[in-house]
Amino acid sequence: MPVDILVGTQWGDEGKGKLIDVLTRDVDMVVRFQGGNNAGHTVEIGSEKYVLHLVPSGIFRPGVQCLIGNGVVVDPIGLMQEMQDLARRGIDVAGVELSNRAHLIFEYHKRADALRESGAGAMKIGTTKRGIGPAYADKAHRCGIRGIALTEPERLERLFREQAAKYNRLFVEAGIDPLDIDAEWLKVAEAARYLAPYVGDTVVSINEAIRAGKKILCEGAQGGLLDIDHGTYPFVTSSNTVAGGACTGAGIAPRHVGDVWGVLKAYTTRVGEGPFPTELFDQAGETLRQVGREFGATTGRPRRCGWFDAVAAGYSCMISGVNKLAITKLDVLDQLPELGICTAYEVDGVQTPYFPASTEALAKAKPVYEWLPGWQCSTEDVSCWEDLPENARRYLQRLAELVRAEIAIVSVGPRRDQTFEV
Ligand code: IMP
Repeated sequence: MPVDILVGTQWGDEGKGKLIDVLTRDVDMVVRFQGGNNAGHTVEIGSEKYVLHLVPSGIFRPGVQCLIGNGVVVDPIGLMQEMQDLARRGIDVAGVELSNRAHLIFEYHKRADALRESGAGAMKIGTTKRGIGPAYADKAHRCGIRGIALTEPERLERLFREQAAKYNRLFVEAGIDPLDIDAEWLKVAEAARYLAPYVGDTVVSINEAIRAGKKILCEGAQGGLLDIDHGTYPFVTSSNTVAGGACTGAGIAPRHVGDVWGVLKAYTTRVGEGPFPTELFDQAGETLRQVGREFGATTGRPRRCGWFDAVAAGYSCMISGVNKLAITKLDVLDQLPELGICTAYEVDGVQTPYFPASTEALAKAKPVYEWLPGWQCSTEDVSCWEDLPENARRYLQRLAELVRAEIAIVSVGPRRDQTFEV
């Protein structure tokens, strides 16, 4: 059975956690393949609300195996706390498997992230300060520490102390407090003891599941426009967030890939710095933020909000090969009288339907809008396509046409039942 991949198609926060939770109804295994605890996937089940940062969103379905793949960067202390919190709330975490090849994030990575941001001036990225960039940099520098070390305490201690001492020299040079290595090691050692039984060869587990005909879903974090290669560089995260990232980040050969689900928010948001052509600074933007509760799940930061950008989302869907769309947060648009859709950019007086590689060009791109009438009634209780107001259907169809994929799911609220198939 082919492996399906689900990715965000904008700048993250499209509602992937909820969709994964819905799609895992009939899935055997869910695999995270990139990013780390910079992600915050919100899932609401009944009156309970959960925010997951590292554990795959399939965890709420008993019997679904949840894997953290080799392409993820893992804060062991954060993962331990997340798993302990879930267990306290009655969620079974026994089936979680953490890749022995996944790179680990330590306190020194977080400090290095914050240090870089504090001195970056105009090049500040607005990171989540979770140490994501420095951990991936260590991986590329070939001095990272991997999941396997959690099962070898002596080796882990030696590697951790060596790296921490190296970072401390940088911190002292930069005039900030060095890490208390002994104190930090005790926390790491505790997390290692807790996590060691969960460490395994996820690549083998995944490929055995493929051979056994199991149904597998790969869960992307962030969104295509934050991809390190294809996003708004340098205002991106440090991993490949597009669907191709699942092949390297989970050890899945491309020939096993089936459907690519693209999660698309019915408008656009972005957290952190970087160009955002359709950003709104007026009342419509504030309405999107308040009605859509657009505040970061990881950092609580207010999200920047704007009209749907079909140039950006279309480009992202193209790179990921999205064939099935899950459009989320339609209900947030319920009361707006008219809705803008950006279909092209104007850069230096020239119109283009393409997403420019140049961040400078993107920063000065003026969106060319097409305006569609709103529906000005509630869609929160709608449970099938036919019951949507006609203007809402027209709006959704136009989005799908512009990004060249088919609508498979529409979501009209945060709860599991506020989702229907098309
Ligand atoms: P980092 O991933 O913490 O290095 O942050 C790099 C950029 O990605 C910043 O603009 C963050 O706000 C953004 N980012 C990282 N994770 C997420 C996410 O899960 N949702 C939305 N934006 C994110």
